[in-house]
Amino acid sequence: MNKLKKTITIDDPSNWLSSGRVTDYLNRIDHIPHRKEGESVLLELLPDSTRRILDLGSGNGRLIKLVKKRFPLVHAVAMDFSPHMITELKREFSSEETVLVVKHDLNDRLPNLGKFDAVVSSFAIHHLTHLRKKEIYFEIFSILYPGGIFCNLDHISSSSIKLKQYFRKAMKRKPVNTEHEKRLSNLNVQIRWLKEIGYVDVDCYWKWLEFALLIGFKMDKNP
Ligand SMILES: C[S@@+](CC[C@H](N)C(=O)[O-])C[C@H]1O[C@@H](n2cnc3c(N)ncnc32)[C@H](O)[C@@H]1O
Repeated sequence: MNKLKKTITIDDPSNWLSSGRVTDYLNRIDHIPHRKEGESVLLELLPDSTRRILDLGSGNGRLIKLVKKRFPLVHAVAMDFSPHMITELKREFSSEETVLVVKHDLNDRLPNLGKFDAVVSSFAIHHLTHLRKKEIYFEIFSILYPGGIFCNLDHISSSSIKLKQYFRKAMKRKPVNTEHEKRLSNLNVQIRWLKEIGYVDVDCYWKWLEFALLIGFKMDKNP
């Protein structure tokens, strides 16, 4: 056996490169508890002036499709690193000239794609390390227009053991995926990062146990 070959285990976040993980996720995509509540708050908070959005870790394009229902004319960039998700995205948006699909690993610096009114993400950024999350929050800030919004609907760490146990029970999650859990960041820490970077009106705009919607705005030049 080639010892240098990377072994992908269930715990490995790069498991998104396997078709099994992708299929498993896509089969339960509509059954993730309370996600629709978080998504609807995210959609509600997007400014009416939104014309161009970037979606980080787009999966099969679920969030872009929701945004386009509210803003049919919006131009979107869908970004993911999984070849299987890229195939899904290309199939989904094959007839959509307003959606650009970009293959990119979020562990690497965001590519230059111009500026955006909104950068959104759902259940993807938690796969990054704590350090990379803070870096990417900074990179997002730099590509937002003044007045722009960053919305991250994501999986965060529990603030207590009891809450964690309740979440696992609600999610019917067994066994515990330790690598995945280690990547989950604390809500208040992430709010602090966003404020330190310069985002304003930063808060958790919706939360259910370990799912939270973090939002921050880039201050408008002419408020
Ligand atoms: C749980 S799915 C969420 C997909 C979609 N945003 C949704 O809400 O249904 C996580 C997505 O993040 C992507 N992802 C995970 N790590 C990534 C990375 N390092 N770079 C780019 N995409 C990543 C996966 O390929 C997958 O599509």
